[in-house]
Amino acid sequence: MGRLILLDHPLVQHKISMLRDKETSTKDFRELVEEVSMLMAYEVTRDLPLKEIEIETPICKARTNVISGRSIGIIPILRAGLGMVNGILRLAPNAKVGHIGLYRDPVTMDPVEYYCKLPCDAEERDLIVVDPMLATGGSASMAITFLKQRGCQRIKFMCLVAAKQGVEKLMSDHPDVDIFAAAYDLELNDHCYIVPGLGDAGDRLFGTK
Ligand code: PRP
Ligand code: URA
Repeated sequence: MGRLILLDHPLVQHKISMLRDKETSTKDFRELVEEVSMLMAYEVTRDLPLKEIEIETPICKARTNVISGRSIGIIPILRAGLGMVNGILRLAPNAKVGHIGLYRDPVTMDPVEYYCKLPCDAEERDLIVVDPMLATGGSASMAITFLKQRGCQRIKFMCLVAAKQGVEKLMSDHPDVDIFAAAYDLELNDHCYIVPGLGDAGDRLFGTK
């Protein structure tokens, strides 16, 4: 069974509170999403394998660790996932980025695919699927299904706010995928928005409402 890992670091929690505040401007919202994503990436990449190398310090030769082997792929779910990419790239600048475009049908709330472009070696990478919001879980689950259909196996999901319903769906559909979140909310409203949540993440990031 996949795990739900909640990042309770005070800096993350503080910034999530600012993101929830409806008075936060588009500019500040965008910066905060990037900052929280960078802080979360530190934890999401904790299990990257290391290898020992020999270097020479100004004092002597020394054996020391660097990240080895497998490289990372970041897969934002469009649109709102785009806001999380730069924060992760600041810690993992060599990561490749693939895009999956999904929107929720406003009537059925089911995800509809409109775009998919992945790194050509996606199946060899450790993939981090990113989207600020995990509400019903439909979008995240469909995106991960696409990746698995294309041969990807090592997948993590990273979001800012995870709702109980979305966590349960993702764990049931993809028990091999760990979920990293900065907040866990219990409810969805009649429009499948997370309560209390932070509103429509895409609109707040891009100023479209
Ligand atoms: C939002 C959000 C997720 C999805 C979550 O995207 O960014 O992708 O809804 O909801 P779910 O868990 O119920 O599937 P939206 O469809 O609003 O598209 P956007 O990013 O283009 O605004
Ligand atoms: N998508 C959002 O942007 N916010 C929600 O609360 C749910 C889905």
